[in-house]
Formats: sequence, structure tokens, C-alpha cells
Amino acid sequence: MKKLIRNAAILCAFLAVTSVLSAQSLKKEVSSIPTVKLNNGVKMPALGFGTLELNDSLGINSVAQAILLGYRLFDTATIYGNEEAVGKGLKKSGVDRKKLFISTKLWVSDMGYENTKKAFEKSLKKLGVDYVDMYLIHRPRGDVQGSWKAMEELYKAGKIRAIGVSNFDSTQLADLVAKAEIKPAINQIELNPYFQEPELVKVIKKSGIQVEGWSPFAQGRNGLFTNKVLVEIGKKYNKTAAQVTLRWLIQRGVVVIPRTSNPAFMKENLDVFNFKLSKADMQQITTLDKKTSQFPEWN
Ligand SMILES: NC(=O)c1ccc[n+]([C@@H]2O[C@H](COP(=O)([O-])OP(=O)(O)OC[C@H]3O[C@@H](n4cnc5c(N)ncnc54)[C@H](OP(=O)(O)O)[C@@H]3O)[C@@H](O)[C@H]2O)c1
Repeated sequence: MKKLIRNAAILCAFLAVTSVLSAQSLKKEVSSIPTVKLNNGVKMPALGFGTLELNDSLGINSVAQAILLGYRLFDTATIYGNEEAVGKGLKKSGVDRKKLFISTKLWVSDMGYENTKKAFEKSLKKLGVDYVDMYLIHRPRGDVQGSWKAMEELYKAGKIRAIGVSNFDSTQLADLVAKAEIKPAINQIELNPYFQEPELVKVIKKSGIQVEGWSPFAQGRNGLFTNKVLVEIGKKYNKTAAQVTLRWLIQRGVVVIPRTSNPAFMKENLDVFNFKLSKADMQQITTLDKKTSQFPEWN
């Protein structure tokens, strides 16, 4: 009996220590992601998790795994067809919803004042939440002004913490800003070493709007992960081409949302806040710009 009690005590002590350790390491990893302050004062993680193509159980498990590793910002969209899976993954993690930053997008077929309100409610339901941290117009098509008015109202009602756009060029952005009551907090655009958009990034920043980059790896197209320039720069810091790419974007002041279903890549992509690219490295990466979208099929 004594032995049984002693073994039970050892087990309890072991569980207490491991739970404290895992809570501490989780806290350490989480706090290692810096935040950026948006133009309405809301803070958002500088690095998040993309969810394109992560559907059904792959989506649920990838999102839950990413949270466990320290990701807090999740980027989804109605058109990805995975808001439900993302929502389930978030719940599965057990992490307090208030500690998460959930971003979703309004699709082209839902543009216009009434449609936007309806589409937004559907997204909330699918995600299983009563507010989102960010809602973006996915593409500058159709009745942008009508949609924006609806989003402003949802923002004022406390159902969205920050509203923004995606894939807007400088003219489209200026047009919206001129007519809007509430300025967009973010413009999410394609940004990777092969499509660097220096002018657009400058214009967005100058308007006080945060830049968020999608497809930071161009989905690996054009051999990005084995690109000689990125690999050679990485060697100096003991980092991969993927990490160099993320770091380069972060140093340009861009919020990044790499996507992967591989836990090893998830960790690797988080491990980008303990080194700094030199001016010369940054300059060298600019030479990789092909000045053209890596996804012509989406335009
Ligand atoms: N607003 C828009 O119009 C728009 C458009 C596209 C994307 N987005 C958003 O941006 C997010 C990111 O873009 P994306 O999903 O197109 O592609 P991405 O993040 O550029 O690339 C994803 C690919 O890179 C691989 N990968 C990830 N980390 C890696 C690493 N450390 N080493 C080697 N390979 C790695 C993944 O591998 P595995 O397959 O093995 O996981 C996956 O095949 C999307 O998920 C979505 O949330 C927005």
C-alpha cells in the first residue's frame, strides 16, 4: 500500500513538473512572436499561419498543432472552404479564444452591402466564434464601397476588431481610403523574393496601412527553397532559405503567414526572430525580383 501511495505521489509530481515545463516552453515560444500595432491600435502577431488547402481533418489537425507550437494568428477565407475546419482546430487546442487572432475574407461573389453582412454571419458560424479579429475584402471586385460600409458597421458593432483589404493596388487602395469612414488597417498582397512590389509596399506603408504578405514562399515555385542566393545567405546564420525569406519580409515590416501541414516546417518557420539579415543580404535578395506575380492563373 505504502509503495502504491509513493508511486502515485511520484507520478503526480512528474505530471506537475511536465505541465509546468510545457506551459513555460509554450509561453516562451508564444512570447517570442512580436506584434505589430495596426492604425486602430489593435495589436497583431507579426507572423501567423496560412491555411489555404488545409481542409477537413488536415486543416483541423494542422491548426491545432500550429497553436501548440506557438502560432496565434490564423489566416483563412470563405473561398478556401475551411473556415469550419480552422474553427474546429482552434477549439481543439483548448487555447483561450481571446489569445487568438483570427482573420478571414469576404469572397468576390458576396460583394455588396447586404451580401457582405450575410457572408460575414456565415463565416462567424463556420468558425464557431462571435467575433473575428480581422475581416478582409479578398479581391477588389464588384461593389467595394457597399461591402466596406457593411464592414464598417460590423466593426462599430464590435464583431470585427480590424477591417482591411487584400490584393488592392495603389489606385484601388487610394480610391477606398478617399471614400471610407474607417481607413483599412491592412492590405494583404502577394509578396515573396520573386515578386517584391517595392513601390506598392512603400505606398501602403505611407498611408499608415499595415502590409501583410501572402505566399511568402511562392508555394516553392521556381525552386525557392533551393535558391542559391537564399541558401548561401542562410548558411551564414545557420538558417534555411525558407527562414531567410520570412526574415527578409519581416525586416521589410511585412506580416507573414506561411502555410504548412508539416510540424517540422511549422517550428522552422517560427524560428526567425533570433537573427538579423545585414543590409547587404537584404540588398542581395532584391536582385531575385522577377517583378511578376508567381500566380498568373489567379489574376
Ligand atoms: N489573399 C490572397 O489572395 C491569398 C492568396 C494566397 C494565399 N493566401 C494566404 O497566404 C498563405 C500562405 O501562402 P500559400 O499557402 O499560398 O503558400 P506558401 O506559404 O508560400 O507555401 C506553402 C508551401 O511551402 C511549403 N513549406 C512551408 N514551410 C516550409 C519550409 N520551412 N521548408 C520547406 N517547405 C515549406 C509547404 O509545404 P507542405 O505542403 O509540406 O506543408 C507548402 O507546400 C495561405 O495559406 C493563405 O492563408 C492569401
